[in-house]
Amino acid sequence: MALRHGTTTSARGITGIDVSASFLGRRTFTRYDAEDVVGQALARRLGVPYHSRRTGTAPPPGGCGWRLTLDGTRATLMLRLDERPLHRRAYKQRTIPGTLHPPLAAAMAVLADIRPGHTVLDPCCGAGTLLIEAALAQPEARYQGFDLSANALTAARANAAELPITIRRSDAARLPLPDNSIDRVLCNPPWGTQAHAGGLLATAPSRWWTELRRVLTSEGTAVLLLPHREDLTTAIRHGFTPAHMQRLRLSGAQPFLVHLTLTDAGRSRPAQQLPEGDGPVRSGRGRSSRDAPRAP
Ligand SMILES: C[S@@+](CC[C@H](N)C(=O)[O-])C[C@H]1O[C@@H](n2cnc3c(N)ncnc32)[C@H](O)[C@@H]1O
Repeated sequence: MALRHGTTTSARGITGIDVSASFLGRRTFTRYDAEDVVGQALARRLGVPYHSRRTGTAPPPGGCGWRLTLDGTRATLMLRLDERPLHRRAYKQRTIPGTLHPPLAAAMAVLADIRPGHTVLDPCCGAGTLLIEAALAQPEARYQGFDLSANALTAARANAAELPITIRRSDAARLPLPDNSIDRVLCNPPWGTQAHAGGLLATAPSRWWTELRRVLTSEGTAVLLLPHREDLTTAIRHGFTPAHMQRLRLSGAQPFLVHLTLTDAGRSRPAQQLPEGDGPVRSGRGRSSRDAPRAP
C-alpha cells in the first residue's frame, strides 16, 4: 500500500489519517458518523492517530486522506494518492458565488459529446468552469462564454487564460451570435439561490430559452443544470425534449442534470417572438426573431 508522504509499503512516516465520506440515498446517520467508524478502524489497523472532520478543523500536516462513498448497500473506500484532491483544479484561481464543482462540470462536458470542429456556448459562464473542463477534454472545438457580471468575466478570463476560450460580456437573452451557429450548449443558468438572474433575464427569464433555441443548430444539444422541475416544462414548451435526465444532490439542493435535444417542432419553428418592448433578439442571418411567429 502506497501512502502519501510514505516512501515504503507501510504506514511508517505518516502522522495520522482522516476520512471524507459522501452518500447517495437515504440514511439514518450523518457523514461524520460513517467517517468516524471507518476512520477509527483504519487508524487502529495502521497504528496511527485518527483526525475526525466532525470538529471542522483541518487535518494536521503529514496525514493520509481516505475517501468513503456509500451508495445504497455498497461502500467504497479509496486512498487519496495526492496532496491535493482532484476536484481542486489548478486552473481555478478565481471563483464566484454559484460556481460549479469541476468534476460535475467535467461530467456535463462528457455528456455533451463535443466533437472536433464544434462550437460550444455557455451563455452564463460565471468563472468559466464548464467551458474550461470541456476545452481540456476536447481541445479541437471552439468555445464561447458570455456573462453580465464584471466579476464573473474577470474570473473566467483568469481561469481560462491558457485555453482557447473566448469570454465576452453579453446578456444571455440577447447574444451577439448568429442563428443556428452553436452545436453544443453547456450551462447552469442563474435560477438558483446563489446566483441571480440579471439584465433582461431578471424580468423575462423565458428569453433564455428563446435565445438558446435561436442559436442552436438543428442537430444542436444542450447539457444543463436546472434547479426546478418546472424548468423542464419551460424547456419542452420552447421546443426541447429531454434525452437524459438525472436528479443530483448538490450543496443541499437537488437540481436536475438534463441533456436536451430539439423536437421536430423545435427544429422547424423559428425562435419565439419577443413580447413588445423587450427589444430585438440579435439575428446574424436573414430575419430577426422579432419577425418570427409566437410559439404556443
Ligand atoms: C450559476 S452561475 C454560473 C456558474 C458557472 N457555471 C461557473 O462554474 O462558475 C450563473 C451566472 O449567470 C450570470 N448571469 C445572470 N444574469 C445573466 C444574464 N442576463 N446574462 C448573462 N449572464 C447572466 C451570473 O453573473 C452568474 O455568473
